[in-house]
Amino acid sequence: MSHRPAVAEGPPERVPTDVPGAAPARAHRVLVVDFGSQYTQLIARRVREAGVYCEIHPFDVPDGFVAEFAPRGIILSGGPETVTEGSTPRIPDQVFAAGVPVLGICYGMHAMAAQLGGAVEPSTHREFGHAEVEAAPQDRLLEGLTDGGRMPVWMSHGDKVTAVPPGFVVTAHTESAPVAAMTDPARRLFGVQFHPEVTHTARGADIVRRFARDICGCAGSWTPGHIVEEAVASVRAQVGDGRVVLGLSGGVDSSVAAALLSRAIGDRLTCVFVDNGLLRLHEREEVEAAFTRGGNALDVDVVTEDASEEFLAALAGHDDPEAKRKIIGGTFIDVFQRAAARLEDVRWLGQGTIYPDVIESAASKYGKAHVIKSHHNVGGLPERMHLSLVEPLRDLFKDEVRKVGMALGLPRELVYRHPFPGPGLAVRVLGEVRREYLDVLRQADAIFLDELRRADWYDRVSQAFAVYLPVASVGVVGDARRYEHVIALRAVETTDFMTARWAELPYDLLGRVSNRIMNEIAGVSRVVYDVSSKPPATIEWE
Ligand code: XMP
Repeated sequence: MSHRPAVAEGPPERVPTDVPGAAPARAHRVLVVDFGSQYTQLIARRVREAGVYCEIHPFDVPDGFVAEFAPRGIILSGGPETVTEGSTPRIPDQVFAAGVPVLGICYGMHAMAAQLGGAVEPSTHREFGHAEVEAAPQDRLLEGLTDGGRMPVWMSHGDKVTAVPPGFVVTAHTESAPVAAMTDPARRLFGVQFHPEVTHTARGADIVRRFARDICGCAGSWTPGHIVEEAVASVRAQVGDGRVVLGLSGGVDSSVAAALLSRAIGDRLTCVFVDNGLLRLHEREEVEAAFTRGGNALDVDVVTEDASEEFLAALAGHDDPEAKRKIIGGTFIDVFQRAAARLEDVRWLGQGTIYPDVIESAASKYGKAHVIKSHHNVGGLPERMHLSLVEPLRDLFKDEVRKVGMALGLPRELVYRHPFPGPGLAVRVLGEVRREYLDVLRQADAIFLDELRRADWYDRVSQAFAVYLPVASVGVVGDARRYEHVIALRAVETTDFMTARWAELPYDLLGRVSNRIMNEIAGVSRVVYDVSSKPPATIEWE
């Protein structure tokens, strides 16, 4: 089997820019045109992993957009519609007018075939899942990426191309799809029926890389080093000599945003860390150690607001999950605003918004696969505080945020830690939040995470935590029956947190966690493991 060697991510190289004024990291770029596929973000991630900057825009961009964006290549996503119906999305003429290579995936290929003079028909059955294509040996896109001409791929479509447009040749087929890939070598137009962006397509990432790097000729300059360099320059240009305040939560996004802002503007950044009394064991100390003088390579001004009393008092007597969330969100804004008001001359609010949040709020009317994030914990803060926003991670995917965090010297445990909800342990103590419940939960949670780390399971699950169930359950201590409360353990595997599978943790690991919780913590009579997947269960218990 022959394939091209992967291109090493060398030191940042300066590349001539195709886009006036663009920084080197974005000089060569790919445009991903979104037709509403659930996989569109994956396409963009694969392009970025190939070291090429790209952006996702809906298919109905305004006239002139493509020329202004100046991509070296364009990828057309899949989508939930069918081109066999007249009112569904079409590829705008400006895509073909750009004269750059175009790769259509699934719906993108159907639209390309239909619009350029080929034919598309509904399949008699929907093809979904693993398939094997047989590819032509000389195709520029697939060459060297097959195993003797065969390639396992992931299919998900209801239509098929039955005649390729003039100028195209068929470059792959499957048993049920006569045209699984097509190419017009002269115009450098490519179509694939399968999804190279999903990991089930064995050489899918290589196909995307082949397109972006070799066919479009993009240099691999989208590297963590370049990203940091560019973000630093752009923050400096944006805020000038202004001062920035940022709410540090201890999560990945706000931590990396803090590190980046600090690199850019040094002591003109002040971070406010609100201790809401709903944090995990030692969390406050860990955040302070990661950022404050002497604790780490990073030297960031962090102001800790101890507001645990205020949060617990506000939560007293409330047992409804949504009411609890609202109280916590409102109290956070009050506390944060108060702390920020003590800082002089602050005109900017830093936020760790990341690219998926941006895409989701900008999806076109066809963007059916996009689910709008439902957890806006601190919405409205910039307006209320009359501050302008600076969002240094706005163009980055989560995996890129992590790489940037490592490049900036943040501790690995912080950069790769599981997500933790804004309302913290309050949504993990079911019903009314009480201090004594939080104390027990904190210890149980720490034992669970500690054992997961020791057994090398922490990084194998996406999120793991303990939940406090204030239901009286009987236990025996000596000769006496005692009614105490229950701890539930939850560990899930997921890529997008929209769906999740419960993790099949080894029994001996669960046994150790259970023994330790019951032996080391007073007040727990029983430990249970949650074996519910999402849907229908959610990840959190409230
Ligand atoms: P669910 O429970 O909806 O959780 O399956 C999906 C992901 O979202 C997190 N989550 C929250 N995050 N504020 C947050 O910042 C919240 O109110 C909230 N509720 C759930 C949850 O931890 C999981 O990662």
